Parts: sequence; structure tokens; C-alpha cells
Amino acid sequence: MCGIIGYAGGGNAAAAIYKGLLNLEYRGYDSAGLAVMENGKCRVVKSCGRVEKLNASLQFLSGNTGIGHTRWATHGKPSNSNAHPHTYGKVTIVHNGIIENYAELKSKLLAEGDVFSSDTDSEVLAHLIDKFYDGNLLSAVVKCADMLKGSYALLCMREGKDEIVAAKYRSPVILGYGEGCNYCSSDLPALAGNCGRVCVLEDGDFAEVTASYIRICDRTGKEISREILPNLAEPAELSAGGFPHYMLKELWEAPATVKNTVKLFESCKTSALAALSGAERIILTGCGTAYHAALAGKRYIEEFCGIPCEAEYAGELRYKTTPECGKTALIAVTQSGETADTVEAARLFKSLGAKVTAVTNSPHSAITRLSDAVVRVAAGTEVCVAATKSYSGQIAALYLIAALLKGDDGEMTKKVEKAPDLILNALQQVDIYTLAEMCSNSRGVYFLGRDIDYAVALEGSLKLKEVSYLPGSGYPAGELKHGTLALIDEKTLSVFIITDEKLAAKSSGAVEQVLARRGKVAVLTNIDGVRGAFENRAEIITLPECDKFLSPLVSAAALQLLAYRTAVIMGRDPDKPRNLAKSVTVE
Ligand code: AGP
Repeated sequence: MCGIIGYAGGGNAAAAIYKGLLNLEYRGYDSAGLAVMENGKCRVVKSCGRVEKLNASLQFLSGNTGIGHTRWATHGKPSNSNAHPHTYGKVTIVHNGIIENYAELKSKLLAEGDVFSSDTDSEVLAHLIDKFYDGNLLSAVVKCADMLKGSYALLCMREGKDEIVAAKYRSPVILGYGEGCNYCSSDLPALAGNCGRVCVLEDGDFAEVTASYIRICDRTGKEISREILPNLAEPAELSAGGFPHYMLKELWEAPATVKNTVKLFESCKTSALAALSGAERIILTGCGTAYHAALAGKRYIEEFCGIPCEAEYAGELRYKTTPECGKTALIAVTQSGETADTVEAARLFKSLGAKVTAVTNSPHSAITRLSDAVVRVAAGTEVCVAATKSYSGQIAALYLIAALLKGDDGEMTKKVEKAPDLILNALQQVDIYTLAEMCSNSRGVYFLGRDIDYAVALEGSLKLKEVSYLPGSGYPAGELKHGTLALIDEKTLSVFIITDEKLAAKSSGAVEQVLARRGKVAVLTNIDGVRGAFENRAEIITLPECDKFLSPLVSAAALQLLAYRTAVIMGRDPDKPRNLAKSVTVE
């Protein structure tokens, strides 16, 4: 995680870096800093908290080359001293990734008499590069890289020269070619509107970046060429367009996301079919919300195509006994396309011979570069850390993949085409305020459902937790009586999602079990009988009627609204919840 940016040009480096950092803040926002080279001397400013806190210092900085960082803490608490850039001797660095052997490196350096000013893993990089420097910064960075275990996107400057050296391994670095200036960045948003062409570094690449040239090379210093692509990144939206928060704006964009995902799917069909047809087993993977979408995708493929499927957290999948990959295909679901666990799981399966299909919102991401097929989610930029519209897009994409594998004659596609109106109905009609109040007054909130409703329950729970900080969990409704029921009392709230006629009676039984123990209950349903049964005993949220398998789209719309309203009632910032980041590029 963390976002890094470098600028070398004729303009004011601090201003350019600051602007870039604002666009990278979704990668972490517990502290930020930047360094500029002023008359051969490196000047550093840092601040704990959001990037905007650096604004006041910009007027005092005047160099033309610099590097910046927005942090999501991995090693060492959020503080000024742990904020990047880190300087040692004449070397200043910013780093995204994790140096897994930092403790060993640090103890050697301490034994040599080095003094450390932070608790981070990253600071060792500045120490090593400073020590290895013998007139050539690039070769010092290579020597340092040779000693590292872990992942790094590293930018480095040394006093005396307007030059940035970049190194990349398992964390993204993108170079941007501008007019009279050049950039390096963790991601495209920071380069949108700044440079017409970009180049994505590969693992093991290094680069020298100055105002007048970019030179990419391997570890021997030999120049190598990488494809230069047009920069298609749209400048980030600077406001939530009249909405009080991006989360609210973005959850209202779910209907458009589903509509556009259906449109884009046409151009993805051939490669998806080539990657998935003939598979005797399909594994779906992802993290967080993307994993919850994968759970629904597993049900679609099993139900419609009869192909054995598994859904597994990407961080777990990687460490299972080496999978049999002969006729196995992997579907990696990821909004950002940069989530380290998901990318590495996909890399592992590919190396074992499995075909990989990415379901992603990010066309130029790490996952798209390594996948055999890419199914695009058309959510556009999702600024809020909590995924909303991207989840809806993932559900639609996975449903369409299942339809494709089934050989659907258009019937299933028609159903998804109707989904945007259903989501809109849900958003317009659902009255969630009372339930949000109930959540905010609860000691714990549990989300329960069966089958596809269980997949949504997990997502509802994650959404509420991340933006309101209320404790709780998602469970299969049938599991309640096997332990979780012990948590239930009048201070807890159980939110049931019941959209499947076939399982309604069973889920209703679980509702009765909670009511019998004086637990507060809410029921989200589109089934009349269920509504009638609990009318005066539970808070009822009526969902629009819809196909059972597309119900995650409408129930998730209601649950996203619920999480948002609860967060606002509780005075949280739903767009930037504490401790989190949008793009999780560390394992
Ligand atoms: C969702 O609200 C979370 N912010 C988080 O669970 C997220 O879905 C997860 O980190 C995966 O991200 P990705 O889709 O970019 O891979």
C-alpha cells in the first residue's frame, strides 16, 4: 500500500507532487510527506494525517525535482517520524511495499553504528543506498535491491543531482512522459492530465528519471525498452458532485455500472470463453468485497453450468497445498487490479498452468497484465474506500460469465439488463433511516442469510464494519443456533436477508430464534409471506422483487445505504475509514 510519486521537470516539484499525492490518497492516508531538491540540497516536509496538511508548507519549497509519499502504516505507528520520505546521509527515499528482512538488515546497520530515526522497515533502504553510493546512484540502488526480501516500489534521490532513481519489485511503478517533465507514480490516477504517455515497469526493472529523459534498465545497468502506452487515466473527480460523500454518490452509480458492464462484456466474451471453456474446476478468488462477489460467482457457475467451483480468499489460496492445475481455471476478482494477495494468487496459478481470467475495474493494472482474459467492470473511478458500485459491477460480470459458459441464448443477459432499474428502485424506495438508528444504538450487528443471501450478508457486515466501526459478523442463518446465538440479547441487532422463497421458511425460523431471545431484528425481504410474518415484530425493509440470483444487486444496494447512513449518524467519515486504504498492495 502507500502511494509514491516523483516529479522531475521545469515546474515547481512540490506543487506537482502535492497534486499527485491527493490523487493517490486512496492508497493510504495516515501520514504524508515530500522531498524536493533545492540547489543540490534535499528539503523534506512531513505531516501526520491527511495529505492536505502538507499544503501550508508548499509555498516554502522551490525545487524542480522531488518525491512524495502517502502512507498506510505497516511497520511503526502513524507519526511524523515514521512518515516518508526517509533520509540518511545524502540519500532520501520513499517506499511502497514491505521489506521482509528489514529487521536483519537493520541490526547489521545498527552494529555498524547507524542511527535510525523511525520504526519503519523502509528506512533501511536509505541507509543501504547511502552506504553503497560510489558516484552512481543507480548502481547503489541495484546493490541495495539485491539485498532485499519482500516487495518494493522505491524512489530515491541523492543530494547534488536533480535525478530520481526508481526500482520495482512486486509493487507497482508507472513512469509518465510529460511536456518538459517526467513522473514516476504508484498508479495512473496521479498521472491523469499530466502526461500523455506512460510506461509500466516490470519486476526487476530500474529507471533513471530526470526532466529531460527516462532511462529504464535492468540490474546490470543495461538499457531495456518497455512498451509506452497512451495515458488513458481520467483526471480524478475533484468533488462528490453535490453529494455529501463519495460513498453516497458512488452507491447511486451502481445502476450505471451494471448497465455499462453489460455493454463492455460483449468485447470480453471471446477471450473469457477461451480461458474458461473446458475447465473441469473453476476457482474464484479475491479479497474483502471482491471475495464476497466471488462467492456469488461460484454459485452462478455451479448452478448454471454444473462446473465444480470453489471460492477462496486470495491470501489463503496462495498458501494451500500446491493445487492441481491441469484443467483448472482461476477467476481473480479485484476492483483495483493491484491487491497483492489477489495478484500473487493469480501469478501462482498461472505459473502452474491454469488459465487466469481477471474481473476488474482497472484496465491497466497488474492483474490485467498477467491474465489470459479480462472481463471489465465498468464502475469508473471509485474514490470511497468502501467498495459499492464496483461490487454491483462484479456481480453483473460474474453472472454474465456464468451465462456465457452455459451457452445462454440471451435470456440471462436480458435479466441483467433489467437489473439497473431494480437497483434504482431499491435505492429510491428503501427507507433505511430507522434501521440505521437501530444499528448505531447496537452493541453488535449480525447479518444473516442462506445461500446467495449469505454471500450478501457477509458483504453487508463488512460494509457496516468498515465505515461505522461497529462490531459484528455475517453468518449463514442456519449456523446461528450452533454458537452465535449466545451473543444475542436486547442490545444486539440481527439483520436477516431473505430473498429466496425456497429457503424463506428456514430463515424465518432463525428470525424467531433471535426474537425469542429478545434480540432486535431487521428483515430485508421481497417475499410477502416473510413481511407479513414479522410486520410488527421486526424492522422490515422491503426490497423490489427480482430473480433470486440477481438479488445481491438489490439487497447490497440497501445494505450499502444502511452502512452509509449509520456511519453518518455516528459521525464517521465513510469515504476514508480509519486504518484502511483503497488499494492493498502489501501481503
Ligand atoms: C471493500 O469495501 C474494501 N475496501 C475491501 O474489502 C476491498 O474490497 C478489498 O481490499 C479488495 O480490493 P480490490 O477489489 O481492489 O482487490
